[in-house]
Amino acid sequence: MPCQLATVLLLLSTLRLSVALRFSWENTFKIVQFTDLHYGTEYLHDQLTTTVQKRILEWERPDLVVFSGDLVSGNLYSEAGPGWFKKRWEYLSEAVLEADTPWATTLGNHDREADLDGPAIIRLDQQTSKLSLTQQSPSEIEGVTNYWLDIHAHDSNQPAAARIWLLDSLEFGCQGRDGWGCVGPSTVRWLSAQHKLADVPALAFVHIPPPEFMAAWNSGDVRGSKSEPVNCPSGDSGLLQALKAVNVSAVFSGHDHDNNFDAMHSSGIRFAYGHKTGYGSYGPPVDWQHGARVVLLRQGQAPAQAESWIRLEDGSRIDQGPTSSEDVQAQRQSECDGSTAYCFSLEASPYKLFNIPPGDWQGDTPMSIFVMRTARSACIELPADSLLSTRLADLVSRRALTETFTGLSYGYGSYGYGSYGYGQYGYRSHSG
Ligand SMILES: *[C@@H]1O[C@H](CO)[C@@H](O)[C@H](O)[C@H]1NC(C)=O
Repeated sequence: MPCQLATVLLLLSTLRLSVALRFSWENTFKIVQFTDLHYGTEYLHDQLTTTVQKRILEWERPDLVVFSGDLVSGNLYSEAGPGWFKKRWEYLSEAVLEADTPWATTLGNHDREADLDGPAIIRLDQQTSKLSLTQQSPSEIEGVTNYWLDIHAHDSNQPAAARIWLLDSLEFGCQGRDGWGCVGPSTVRWLSAQHKLADVPALAFVHIPPPEFMAAWNSGDVRGSKSEPVNCPSGDSGLLQALKAVNVSAVFSGHDHDNNFDAMHSSGIRFAYGHKTGYGSYGPPVDWQHGARVVLLRQGQAPAQAESWIRLEDGSRIDQGPTSSEDVQAQRQSECDGSTAYCFSLEASPYKLFNIPPGDWQGDTPMSIFVMRTARSACIELPADSLLSTRLADLVSRRALTETFTGLSYGYGSYGYGSYGYGQYGYRSHSG
């Protein structure tokens, strides 16, 4: 008999008894979106970021945390050796574990640049605790974190009362165009094919903002700020139609650390940024604090109408008011690949500075390098210390860049590439 008991125990321990998500007796469900945590820049930043998470979890006590990508600054990995991501993940997951809060992850463009590939990151995430609701996509579609989570009504185990989609916007390139990544075409087809799941209100989280963020800003029905261009993909994989097919009425992204606006698109779908949570990398703007977006779903309500606010690291709450039409006008954007304007061309001079006199560079630490491929491509970031130790040609071969690139530059600033967004702070170039 002890043998049978052991078998049963073994069986039980291998079953992943995952947490069921459920509306409260007040018919609410609260999500905290931690975005762009960027662990791995330096230990002090990592500690501060964990403190931000802990405070926000204490204040908000959400039903679910969504990590919406760029968990780490994988671009700074630089062959630190195995165990790099795992160590960062330990810092990252400390707060949710301590608060006993379930979480779900979708990856960003920097997560797969270090020692773990996408599937290995997912395994690490899932093995941390049964609080992890992260799943891996079917293998035949692009990306590794495309899945959904059902939220049940508070008083029933009926299939679902609302649904959360997690989507993977990959890294670079979309529909054969240079620039930022997007939810790939095969994933968009897979999503459209799930139309049987359109029976309940749904919302989605994705790292890189799809082009509709730009259009939604331009429409003027906006709350919150746009302090850098929307760094959306230059291609359009048709995500909007697929979102409609599964009844998604609100999409939350990360990626642009200096933006936190929440806007209504002409399709009736709401497109909103999170709020930069992590201390690593650039942003948020110097006069902002770090924080998180909170989304309060109500059973039966469209997520497009859900109440949402920003909780800051000092505990204060921002209820974003309407953005002035002057601000909307001043920040209108017509091209998705906003990063272009911020990757300066090296054709002119070896030193091309934006508002910063050359002397001011001295003493700063290079945090990141950008290699520019073509005039219209997005900047590609490379680890800072490779600049010091590696020839440009080696960098190029390491990233397997085949195009002729126009040059090399690196960004400065205590929080990454300048707290004022790309370019305005300045870059110094080395002729390639
Ligand atoms: C789709 O979601 C809306 C709210 O966003 C909801 O009112 C509607 O019932 C859902 N559609 C279907 C077919 O159930």
